[in-house]
Amino acid sequence: MTTSTRALQPTSGSPAPAPVYAGPACVRYEVEDRVAVLTIDNPPVNASTAQVRSGLLSGVRTASSDSEVVALVLIGAGANFISGSDLREFAGPLPPPELPAVIEAIESCPKPVVAALSGATLGGGFELALGCDARVALGGAVVGLPEITLGMIPGAGGTQRPLRILGGARTLDLVTSGRRIPAEAALAEGLVDKVVDASLRDEAVSYARGMAGKRVLRDLPVPEDECGALEQAALSVLSRRGARPQTVAAVGAVFAGLVLPAAEALAHERREFSRLREGVEAAALRHLFFARKAAEKANRASVPVEIRSAGIVGAGTMGAAIARAFVEAGILATVVDTDPSAAAAVADRLSKSYAQMVAQGRLGEEEAVARTSRLKGSGSLSALAGADLVVEAVFEDAGVKKAVLEDLEGIVRPGVPLATNTSYLDIDELAAGLDDPTRVVGMHFFSPAHRTPVLEVVRAARTGQQALDTAFAAARTLGKLPVVARVCDGFIGNRIFNAYRRQCELMVEEGALPQQVDAALEDFGFAMGPFAVADMSGLDVAWRMRKARTVVRRTGERYPDVADALCELGRFGQKSGRGWYRYQEGSRVPLPDPEVEALIKHSAAAKKTPQRTFSGQEIVERALAAMANEAALLLGEGIAERAGDVDLLLTLGYGFPAHEGGITFWASNLGPVRLAEALDALEEAAGPGFRRADPTILLA
Ligand code: NAI
Repeated sequence: MTTSTRALQPTSGSPAPAPVYAGPACVRYEVEDRVAVLTIDNPPVNASTAQVRSGLLSGVRTASSDSEVVALVLIGAGANFISGSDLREFAGPLPPPELPAVIEAIESCPKPVVAALSGATLGGGFELALGCDARVALGGAVVGLPEITLGMIPGAGGTQRPLRILGGARTLDLVTSGRRIPAEAALAEGLVDKVVDASLRDEAVSYARGMAGKRVLRDLPVPEDECGALEQAALSVLSRRGARPQTVAAVGAVFAGLVLPAAEALAHERREFSRLREGVEAAALRHLFFARKAAEKANRASVPVEIRSAGIVGAGTMGAAIARAFVEAGILATVVDTDPSAAAAVADRLSKSYAQMVAQGRLGEEEAVARTSRLKGSGSLSALAGADLVVEAVFEDAGVKKAVLEDLEGIVRPGVPLATNTSYLDIDELAAGLDDPTRVVGMHFFSPAHRTPVLEVVRAARTGQQALDTAFAAARTLGKLPVVARVCDGFIGNRIFNAYRRQCELMVEEGALPQQVDAALEDFGFAMGPFAVADMSGLDVAWRMRKARTVVRRTGERYPDVADALCELGRFGQKSGRGWYRYQEGSRVPLPDPEVEALIKHSAAAKKTPQRTFSGQEIVERALAAMANEAALLLGEGIAERAGDVDLLLTLGYGFPAHEGGITFWASNLGPVRLAEALDALEEAAGPGFRRADPTILLA
């Protein structure tokens, strides 16, 4: 075997301006028994950058003109082929050469080119692979086109080349689901040509050498779908709740592929990709992507932590769902409640829920049995002596919680973290009576705790590293993103949500109707408006809390009291069939209620609140300005570490629309002048006691 190696410098022969990247070449060029092997080496994940594309273009051109070379292999160094495009490039004009130019060079290269896929081959990486004549994948590799989740469609043939393999309906599914396809499934679908267990490079080289000639996907005919399948698939994705412009563009691109010559359909796809990439929604989603990366990097355990068993104190709404989250993550969960029937009821509800899922074919029977067997109930805290982590979710009462934590300290092994799921209470205060307060950390789950993909980890003044590490490790095990908050009333999420809800209630007092406020905010993109949310969660919990807090209310501050009036009438929301709305028996559809309107009018008249009409835009701006103001206060106070953290919590935990990027992205997008105007209007409407933040912290 003869092998020669050299590093490729970025090509200077491209028709576009010279590549902008300097620095070491990240595509190695070797010739192995007449097969050119181009190794992409751009740690840590082999993202596609201009430098990578330039190296590839140069390598393909070299191999094309080298008469000694009969075929080419593209392969990734390290774990991945190309994990995707480097999103940092996406904010401005893309530095040349762009991906379509590289793919065009591959397709017009007279020699077969084989992509050797390993690890993640996503987005632009998969489009590059589809531009090759064949794909050989290592078992365990995954392919996919996740652009849709970033507000775009694929821009380098991702809607066109799979079309030649899958037909229209399945291509549309591939592009609009953004799903990751394991190598074996991709083989079955024809998206890869061979899967190997080992020796990927050797296998790919021998595959390339054995190819009789080119197999350029773009030149193949599109197989016919079953009659009406594409139209059906298009209707289904377009009518899905939350379908965004990228879904419309994906449908358009697939249909274009059926009626236009390949070159024109590819050009159409590229234009749509660029239009979406440069738009504000894609920027919002990229902001969240980077925010997530930053949170993942900052909030991870400093040492490995193994959690085999968890204890949960309190078998109410939250305790039950937290226990469910643990058992579904493969961890033994022991639930303790003073009410002996409560812990048993958790197991009972869980079994019933799994039985239903099994009956619907959504869960295997074995898995259902395994999950239920991981749940234990007890009436005594001593059952938690051997736990690796304990989470308390008892009543939101400082006295009850302090007593539970202090009891736990004497039972649970020293050092094992004692987490509290408190929504509002001062965790420093809860931990004060412990001999070792460093054990106490906040793990604030959002409802429903087994589904919501984010966890607010509250770092109290004395929380120790071990407690923090365990909370991070638990979040990861539970498939939740940990976001760190410091102690304050409501931490990050609830404090912002309360500021928002308060303004919504004040607007109702000033003449807007609950259904109008909900509709405006749902039009903006919230999954549910604040009044529908309140009815769903139950008005009584917040009512009890307000009653406990009258003493801390600032004098002269406006106090929206309609919610109290509703509770006094036993209108607790969905659970009592009436709240801000009324509900028909067995239905969750909120219906406007004249009784509520009368209560609102009565409250406004008693306070002599001037009445006026509101536009939808005004409602949205005031509600969001309240959120933005609170976010700025939280950042200024150091309760939240990063603006991106706030946005992650709101989008993942509170139904804030991801395509708006979260509240800090929304505010910075508004710009300094309009944001200042929105805050001026908010300050005037909010009345005495309003704390105005310095918004520049949001504009950084
Ligand atoms: P819940 O009232 O449904 O359940 C509380 C449970 O704790 C009851 O089963 C009660 O018997 C048990 N309990 C009370 N004292 C106990 C003790 N000393 N030892 C053992 N068990 C005891 O309350 P929920 O809604 O589950 O809330 C629990 C905690 O979670 C609260 O701190 C709440 O603020 C917090 N939280 C609630 C959320 C929600 O959406 N409901 C969301 C996030 C946090």
